[in-house]
Amino acid sequence: MKNVLITGANRGLGLGFVKKFLEQNVKVFCTTRNISKSIDLIKYQKKYPNNLEICELDLIAENSNKVLCKFLGDKPIDIFINNAGVIGSSKQHFKEVSSNPWIEVLKINLIAPLMITQSIIKNIELSIDKKVYFISSKVGSIDDNRGGGMYIYRSSKTALNQVVKSLSIDLKPLGISVISLHPGWVRTDMGGPNALISVDESIKGMMSVILNTDIKNSGHFFNYDGSEIPW
Ligand SMILES: NC(=O)c1ccc[n+]([C@@H]2O[C@H](COP(=O)([O-])OP(=O)(O)OC[C@H]3O[C@@H](n4cnc5c(N)ncnc54)[C@H](OP(=O)(O)O)[C@@H]3O)[C@@H](O)[C@H]2O)c1
Repeated sequence: MKNVLITGANRGLGLGFVKKFLEQNVKVFCTTRNISKSIDLIKYQKKYPNNLEICELDLIAENSNKVLCKFLGDKPIDIFINNAGVIGSSKQHFKEVSSNPWIEVLKINLIAPLMITQSIIKNIELSIDKKVYFISSKVGSIDDNRGGGMYIYRSSKTALNQVVKSLSIDLKPLGISVISLHPGWVRTDMGGPNALISVDESIKGMMSVILNTDIKNSGHFFNYDGSEIPW
């Protein structure tokens, strides 16, 4: 049986991944900032008592790496999905940006995903699949930037993409693949009600990309529909 780890699993795309993997009889390890408020995760745990384990984790808490390592122990993790993220303050246009809200977003979207990956790399090495995915965003693509603005969120995902590229090179000798994924513009709390696609559509697409990518595709950036996005 495969083991999957998903961060930010209580709502939006994270919850969508949990549901889909559980339906495929995969063992899911997931994180949420508040277990007692994660009503949907609790519901899934009742439905799949042997296949869902939940860890209470704030990505930017000082002890987050220790908490996650203790939660996983020496269990192998075949697929790690770095999903949790924030869009940040509404003030992201030129002349509006201030440094503290920017630093907060960088901590969550950029720094924490690498710190966490570093801390659980042994679990990934122990697995068969050895796949790590980072949920990035097309707005982080420099090539695709035609609109300007969005300094905080864009730069956090652009820098995350650079982390993905370096990791893909550094982890290649261990047989670990590292890939950036764009989920599409999705109707979640972050994407808003006017977004183009549903969580189900996005997850279906990303699950297919996950199934069809491995070390050969490491260091690349894929859209949820399987097409490649230029960095
Ligand atoms: N939706 C889109 O259109 C879209 C497009 C491109 C990329 N993305 C990316 O897709 C990923 C998921 O987005 P989404 O649309 O599902 O967003 P969402 O509905 O806003 O969910 C975000 C998730 O991240 C968690 N999170 C935020 N800060 C955290 C922290 N400090 N520690 C731990 N967990 C934290 C949230 O937990 P709480 O519930 O506790 O806040 C929540 O579970 C993000 O990385 C986002 O940048 C989304």
